[in-house]
Amino acid sequence: MKNMLVTGGCGFIGTGFIRLLLLDSDFDGRIINVDHLTYAGNPANLTDLEKLSPERYIFLKADICDSDAMTRIFDWYEIDAVCHFAAESHVDRSIVAPDAFIKTNISGTFNLLEVARRNSDRLNLFHHISTDEVFGSLGPDGYFTEQTAYRPNSPYSASKAASDHLVRAYSKTYDLPVTVSNCSNNYGPYQFPEKLIPLMILNAIEDKPLPVYGAGKNVRDWLYVEDHCRAVWRIMQKGTRGETYNIGGRCELANIDTVNLICDILDERLPRANQSSRRDLIRFVKDRPGHDLRYAIDCSKLENELGWSALETFETGLKKTIQWYLDNPQWVQSVKSGEYLKWVEEHYEAS
Ligand code: NAD
Ligand code: TYD
Repeated sequence: MKNMLVTGGCGFIGTGFIRLLLLDSDFDGRIINVDHLTYAGNPANLTDLEKLSPERYIFLKADICDSDAMTRIFDWYEIDAVCHFAAESHVDRSIVAPDAFIKTNISGTFNLLEVARRNSDRLNLFHHISTDEVFGSLGPDGYFTEQTAYRPNSPYSASKAASDHLVRAYSKTYDLPVTVSNCSNNYGPYQFPEKLIPLMILNAIEDKPLPVYGAGKNVRDWLYVEDHCRAVWRIMQKGTRGETYNIGGRCELANIDTVNLICDILDERLPRANQSSRRDLIRFVKDRPGHDLRYAIDCSKLENELGWSALETFETGLKKTIQWYLDNPQWVQSVKSGEYLKWVEEHYEAS
């Protein structure tokens, strides 16, 4: 893998993956990061790498749905591996406006697979990043395994499920060398503050209300983003072509417990002026339609076959994450105000 195309590298997990590969792994090739820079993509996350290793990190603003652009990029950079993160990723947005999810997650993935198929002589691997949400919702017991049937419930998870099926079909029909990973909920640095954990951290810092959907009883299985990225790299290096791998933190928490923990850590690090608990800011609000009750991943295949395990516990990971948001007020300000979008407009032309 000398010339790796990473899609969506300016988003939350893509940023973590590129930083891991270029700063802290045995990867010795070059990364070509293709990102369309939607509201969720911030190239400033990686500008230090453009300066640090310009020969190993190339950023191109382009849409994965643009067949000509993808074809030119594959040819010009002699792409021999793909790690496909680019997606519309937020469930609440998919409920309000599903169109972009269908376009990017389904048509965009289809387009990339077609270009990859045309370049299959050179291609070592197409790794597709997916989610555990494709499996639907669990009751109080049981876990998602690689054998669990797909039963997506939101437009987001349905679009990711469709993309997973396309990847599988290209593996079976055209013998494209693929691997797929289905990961549980991530948290960590650089996450856009629309998702539960960064939204609660930033609202709690600013003494704003903390909106918990329904009764806060829904359960998510949390994984620190660096652990996810290490798992992806391990699968790319050691995984069996044609296989799927579940990735998870064995860390189930009801949302209300997650929010309480964020409040308590912040109260300790940054006591409020009136010394009262930030738990006072919690507001139970109208539930999300079709809200999946519980996700929980069985990741024993990845642990047993590829020797991966998570390094962070929820407490250590959450403390690091909260500290990162406290230490990076400029990033927070630029993302919350949308300043970075103006910067993007001024600095980047579509390739
Ligand atoms: P994100 O929303 O933070 O980032 C997505 C990135 O994709 C952005 O940089 C955006 O600009 C880019 N993008 C969107 N449409 C594009 C297009 N048409 N062409 C090129 N680039 C485009 O998402 P994330 O949380 O980093 O998630 C990355 C991947 O991981 C997604 O495929 C998601 O489904 C999957 N995933 C996420 C989680 C999670 O908890 N965040 C968990 C499991 C799987
Ligand atoms: P989210 O971070 O949107 O991830 P996903 O929906 O993909 O799991 O939400 C995580 C959980 O937190 C989910 O059960 C919905 C809930 N939630 C809230 O209670 N309040 C919020 O403001 C948000 C964004 C999410």
